[in-house]
Amino acid sequence: MAPDPDRVLIFDTTLRDGEQSPGCSMTQPEKLRVARALADLGVDVIEAGFPAASRGDFEAVNAVAREVQGPIICALARCTREDIEAAAKAVAPASNRRIHVFLATSAIHREFKLNMAQDEIVRRAVEGVKSARGFCDNVEFSPEDASRTELDFLARVVEATIEAGASTINIPDTVGYTVPDEFGELFRYLRQNVRGIDKVRLSVHCHDDLGMAVANSLTAVVAGARQIECTINGIGERAGNCSLEEVVMALATRSQFFNLRTNVQTNRLYPTSRLISSITGQPIPRNKAVVGENAFAHESGIHQHGMLQNRMTYEIMRPEDVGLARSNLVLGKHSGRHAFRERVRELGFELDELELNRVFEEFKALADRKKELFDGDIEALVLRAEGAAHGPWTLQQLDVGSQLGSASAAVRLQHADGRTAQGKASGDGPVDAAYKAIEQASGISVKVRKFEVHAVTVGEDAQGETVVYVDYNDRSYRGSSLSTNIVEASCKALLEVINRIEQSQGGARAQAREAALTAKSAL
Ligand code: KIV
Ligand code: ZN
Repeated sequence: MAPDPDRVLIFDTTLRDGEQSPGCSMTQPEKLRVARALADLGVDVIEAGFPAASRGDFEAVNAVAREVQGPIICALARCTREDIEAAAKAVAPASNRRIHVFLATSAIHREFKLNMAQDEIVRRAVEGVKSARGFCDNVEFSPEDASRTELDFLARVVEATIEAGASTINIPDTVGYTVPDEFGELFRYLRQNVRGIDKVRLSVHCHDDLGMAVANSLTAVVAGARQIECTINGIGERAGNCSLEEVVMALATRSQFFNLRTNVQTNRLYPTSRLISSITGQPIPRNKAVVGENAFAHESGIHQHGMLQNRMTYEIMRPEDVGLARSNLVLGKHSGRHAFRERVRELGFELDELELNRVFEEFKALADRKKELFDGDIEALVLRAEGAAHGPWTLQQLDVGSQLGSASAAVRLQHADGRTAQGKASGDGPVDAAYKAIEQASGISVKVRKFEVHAVTVGEDAQGETVVYVDYNDRSYRGSSLSTNIVEASCKALLEVINRIEQSQGGARAQAREAALTAKSAL
């Protein structure tokens, strides 16, 4: 069947370009959770990672390829045999897979990064595409920093890689430098000057350094691109990538202008955006287009009056179109399981019975402490349900005392192996004292790099979400927790990090034991 010329493929790179940006790294279970949410959202391609980057990256891509059905699962590779083999091996279990090879083409990258002349670039790019085709029919090629590459040389590379077997050619604005008119011209130039270009799908990949990633991507689409590479919430290197929710809603809301469609279930945008925010610990700005807290809020009297007469006076999209199903319905301790389940569903989350039971228990416990529970509270409980790292340490007791200028804390921790451990310390404030006591009890000393607290909803009894960023043995960890008591939330966030550290130390010890046994049996 011939591809639909009016369909724009959505290539999501949250797990690759998004995840490689500082503060956005995810564990393998988190990556799987995101990949499943992306499949439910209806993206066409999931770029699951860069397998040659590390063992962890390889395993995460491989797990996504094994477990996530629907979208094409793609892996990134440089134009080297080792990278391409790793990518091919990682995506092998997917029924629908792609290898994405890239090589920089601009003069500045050729001279200072690669130290290669133009002929060498063309030769390596062609070799890379051919080598990837040896493993997979579906190969994408990206000339990195395309927007700063001489047009005639870019056309030469693109033509050679099409001839070598690439089925998608992606044009990246790697450093977010281009502007819409110029970028549209670049696409028109390639379409007029590259032999064979009509046989392949043209793709666009923009970064947001000058805040134009979405505008540049849309201009490329007008000029013939039929795949957009983007990330949820626009996370990515430096200022980020083209934001998926914005570009998709621009195509949907202005469909009469663009006359193009995507396969995205737009009412899954909001829950997916919240999920990524909660996993990465990157808050969504209140005024963020499409998914920000204020995106559909109307404060001024004139606006509110207009809205009451006709919503279209000040709203170009309906909140429900992006999955924002907020209501004034407030749940409390007398709300039953049925009402709770309905609300969770309306908020865009599908939980199995086990998860629903767990979240409902937490909801009940929270309702005992807090008069009214808002949608934000329920969302936060659901998003945390699966994400939190479990054990081995749990917080059994916490006593804090605080005076002007100093504080003290005592904690008791329970370990999964049955041990209990106590710690006692004083510090600058209750959180500082409690952290020292937890470090003492667990025997793990960390360096806290960043600490954030924000209220999930409104009111004096609002739940506080605490996110803590920690360095330990040259690695960075992030933990988060939620409670109406922010000292308790802070302790649980640190405990999540300590549990991760202990789990990875346990893994490393097990690996060392296994290696010693293998070495012994080889003697
Ligand atoms: O920004 C970029 O150029 C990239 C490529 C690897 C496509 O991310
Ligand atoms: Zn990029």
